[in-house]
Amino acid sequence: MKPQRVQFGVIGAGGIAFRKTIPGMLRARNCRLVAVMDTANVERVAAAFGVPRAYTRERDLLADPEVQAVYIATPLHLHARQIRMAAEAGKHVLCEKPLALNLQQARAAVAACRRHKVFLQEGYMMKFHGAHVRIKQLIDAGRLGRLVYLRAQLSCWYPPLKGAWRQDPRTGGGGALIDMATHLYDLLAYFAGPIRRVAALTGNRVHSYKSEDASTTLLEFRSGAHATVDCFYCIPDEASRTRLEVYGSQGAVLAEGTIGQSTGGRMEGIFGLGDSAYDAAQNKDVVRRFSPLRFSHVNPYAAECEYFAACILRAQPPALNNAAGALRIARLVEKAYTSCRSRRVLRV
Ligand SMILES: NC(=O)c1ccc[n+]([C@@H]2O[C@H](COP(=O)([O-])OP(=O)(O)OC[C@H]3O[C@@H](n4cnc5c(N)ncnc54)[C@H](O)[C@@H]3O)[C@@H](O)[C@H]2O)c1
Repeated sequence: MKPQRVQFGVIGAGGIAFRKTIPGMLRARNCRLVAVMDTANVERVAAAFGVPRAYTRERDLLADPEVQAVYIATPLHLHARQIRMAAEAGKHVLCEKPLALNLQQARAAVAACRRHKVFLQEGYMMKFHGAHVRIKQLIDAGRLGRLVYLRAQLSCWYPPLKGAWRQDPRTGGGGALIDMATHLYDLLAYFAGPIRRVAALTGNRVHSYKSEDASTTLLEFRSGAHATVDCFYCIPDEASRTRLEVYGSQGAVLAEGTIGQSTGGRMEGIFGLGDSAYDAAQNKDVVRRFSPLRFSHVNPYAAECEYFAACILRAQPPALNNAAGALRIARLVEKAYTSCRSRRVLRV
């Protein structure tokens, strides 16, 4: 029997779609790419991946009867309108993160999908990374004891570029916080549960564009655990190791290079601690007994497409990266930026 496949069209095919998601989608067992749409160079994309049809207007792709679902990967300020158009055309929507410029737009996009009974999934693909799946399993199995503190880092060098939509809040919604820190809010909430309070600092440390190039966020989870998220557009790529650290009352997991767009990275852990007697000597120069932790090398872009297609084929809305989650992140972003201005810790 031929495997069932969901037929996708891509809106905004030139950036992350071209580099990662289309190659991932083509590997997914239950997806078929039937059309791409972009306002620039769309024929090049279609030719590169052997896609049957290429369009330059959204409405033409959305009128294509073979397209059952769309993947949207356009500049952020276009998402809300394109989600609404896709929902009105009866197409399920996998939309890149963040869902929309602000909470108001995110609510309207979610409402359109609900009204037209199409599924919506947001592109926070990092929770599909093999290392992160393993960390979630270790936490859920209680191997770290009671979660205490998490830290996640994602930085890059992003110099001023003419026409860069992320460098203007009118098209990017903000800078390093909404663009990168949201990935990590989402990932840490996946590990540690709902976020209760937030405080953030943003600024321009190096670059002079309008969006922030610096952001640090303090989070408190409903469980009481704490986290920090540090995301900068002004730390050179080679200088940032994209560290992920998860500490509990009985151990820790430390990872490097798992946050990002790859399948790789490395990870080590230490478990079964915490029951020993208090050590008054507090020698911090001891060599810690961390052991390497293995994980499967899953392509997170293929996995997110496969997951969404499976939900459509089963007629079950996504449990991961769904509309409710997208609204939670949008609300958190709004509170984080408000906390920057008011200099207060805010309830989410
Ligand atoms: N999940 C991830 O790993 C990841 C990584 C990078 C970007 N993103 C997200 O993907 C989205 C796109 O980011 P990017 O870096 O690919 O941007 P980009 O600017 O590199 O690419 C955007 C593409 O959209 C096209 N486009 C512009 N206007 C359009 C329109 N009206 N209709 C159709 N296409 C149009 C552009 O020609 C371009 O090909 C953003 O939401 C971003 O946050 C996600």
